[in-house]
Amino acid sequence: MSAQIGVTGLAVMGANLARNLARNGYTVALHNRSVEKTDALLEKHGGEGDFIRTESLQELVDSLEKPRRVLIMVKAGAPVDSVIEQLEPLLEAGDIIIDAGNSHYEDTRRREAALAEKNLHFVGVGVSGGEEGALLGPSIMPGGSRESYDSLGPMLEKISAKYNGEACCRWIGTDGAGHFVKMVHNGIEYADMQVIGEAYDVLRTAAGIEPADQAKIFTEWNTGTLSSFLIEITAEVLAHTDDRTGKPFVDVVVDSAGQKGTGRWTVVSALELGSPTSGIAESVFARGLSSQRGQRELAQGILEGHEGTVELPEGFVEDVRLALYASKLVSYAQGIDMLTAAATEYGWDLKLDEIASLWRAGCIIRAELLDDIMKAYAGDARPANLLLAPAFAESIAGAVPAWRRVVATAVQLGIPVPVFSSSLAYYDGLRRKRLPAALTQGLRDLFGAHTYNRVDAEGTFHTLWGEDRSEVEAVDTH
Ligand code: 6PG
Repeated sequence: MSAQIGVTGLAVMGANLARNLARNGYTVALHNRSVEKTDALLEKHGGEGDFIRTESLQELVDSLEKPRRVLIMVKAGAPVDSVIEQLEPLLEAGDIIIDAGNSHYEDTRRREAALAEKNLHFVGVGVSGGEEGALLGPSIMPGGSRESYDSLGPMLEKISAKYNGEACCRWIGTDGAGHFVKMVHNGIEYADMQVIGEAYDVLRTAAGIEPADQAKIFTEWNTGTLSSFLIEITAEVLAHTDDRTGKPFVDVVVDSAGQKGTGRWTVVSALELGSPTSGIAESVFARGLSSQRGQRELAQGILEGHEGTVELPEGFVEDVRLALYASKLVSYAQGIDMLTAAATEYGWDLKLDEIASLWRAGCIIRAELLDDIMKAYAGDARPANLLLAPAFAESIAGAVPAWRRVVATAVQLGIPVPVFSSSLAYYDGLRRKRLPAALTQGLRDLFGAHTYNRVDAEGTFHTLWGEDRSEVEAVDTH
C-alpha cells in the first residue's frame, strides 16, 4: 500500500490535517521528529482511516505514490528550511513539498524559486480555522504553480470547509500568493477582534453594560449583518464566569494581548506596498500598547484623563453596533486594497471574489458579510475600493452618523477606540474633496525642493522660496 500524501510535523495542526485527510479517504503516511507523537496519534485516532507509520523522512518518502506529496507542518521560519533541506535530496523531479504553516510569503517565494530550479514543486498553503478547522474543514489558500494545484487541489478541496456545498479552497496564484492572502486574512482577523474589543469597552465603560448582558447583545448581533464566527465566540467568552472567583472571565484575564507575528507582517508589507492599512495597523499597535504593562502602570499614576461627561444618545447600543460594522468594513476594504497592490507588485492574478468566497466558511474571519463582498467583486465588477461598491457605499453611509456619535462619545470619556476612530478618519480621508496633503507638498517643496503638481496645469513645479518666490517648471523630481 502506498500513501497519497505524507505529513511531517504532528503537533496539533499537523495531526489534525493528517486525520482530516484520512477521514476523507486518503492514505496518509505519518512522520514526526520524535516517533512518540506518531504513535500517540495512531493509538488514539488510528481507526479513523488508513495511515502508514514511518520513523524517518526516507521511510516517509518511500511510502508515497508518485508524484510524491509531502506536507510539512512545523513552526514557521528556520524549522521549515531545515525540513526542506532534509527532504530535497530524497525527492525526484515533479514531487511536491507543501508548507501548510503560517510562513512569511517572502520565505515561500524564496523556497519556491530555489526548489523550482531542482524541478521540485513547492506549494505554500495558507490554512485557517485553528485546530478544529484543521480537523473538520479549514479554509485553504494554496499558492505555488498551477501544475502542482492540478495534482494537489482536489485533495485540498475535499478536506476544506464547505459553504453551501462549495469548497473553501481555490488556487490563489503563483509562489507566495497563498501565504500572502493568509497573512492578510490574519491582519483582518486582528482588526476584527480589536473592533469587537472596542465595542465591548464602549458598551461597558460608557453604558455600564456588564459582560453577561453584553453576551446577550452579541448573540443578538450575530443574527444580523455582523453575523460571524468572531461575534459568536465573543458572546461565549463574555458569558463565561470564572470558577475560582465567580467574576466575569474577562475580568480575571490579564489585559495584554499576545501575537505571533502575522498581523505585524501584514502591516510591514502594507507599508512597503504603500497601501493605507490604518485599521489593521492600529489593531497591531493596540496589542503592542496593551503589552507595555510597566509603562501603563506608571501612566495610571501620572497622566490625567480630564474626561468629559456625555449624555448617551438614545439607541446607543445600536450606534455601537453600526460603528463596529462600519469599522469592520473599513478593515476588509483596507485588506482587499492591499491584495490589489500586491497583485500588481508580485504579478499575481488575484481573484478577489474567489478569495472572499473561500473566507466564507472554515476560517477565523468567516462572516455573512463575505458573501456580499464576494458578490461585490463577481463577474466584471472591479470596484476601486470595497467601500465604493454600491451595496457597501450605501450601508456604510447609513452607519456614519452613529459611527461619529460613538467615536465622539469615546473620545469625551477617554475610552481608546483606535480602530473605530482611524477607520472613520480613513473613510473621511477617502471621501474629502481636498486633503491637507497639499500643504505637505508645499512644505516639502520649501525645505527640500521636492516639487509639486498644480491643480490647473500639467507638469511638475518648484517655487523659488529663497529668491523671489516665482514658480519654475521642474525637470527632476527627487
Ligand atoms: C487562523 C489563525 C491562526 C493564527 C492565530 C494566532 O487563521 O487559523 O489566524 O493561523 O495562528 O490566530 O494568531 P496570533 O497569535 O498572532 O494572534
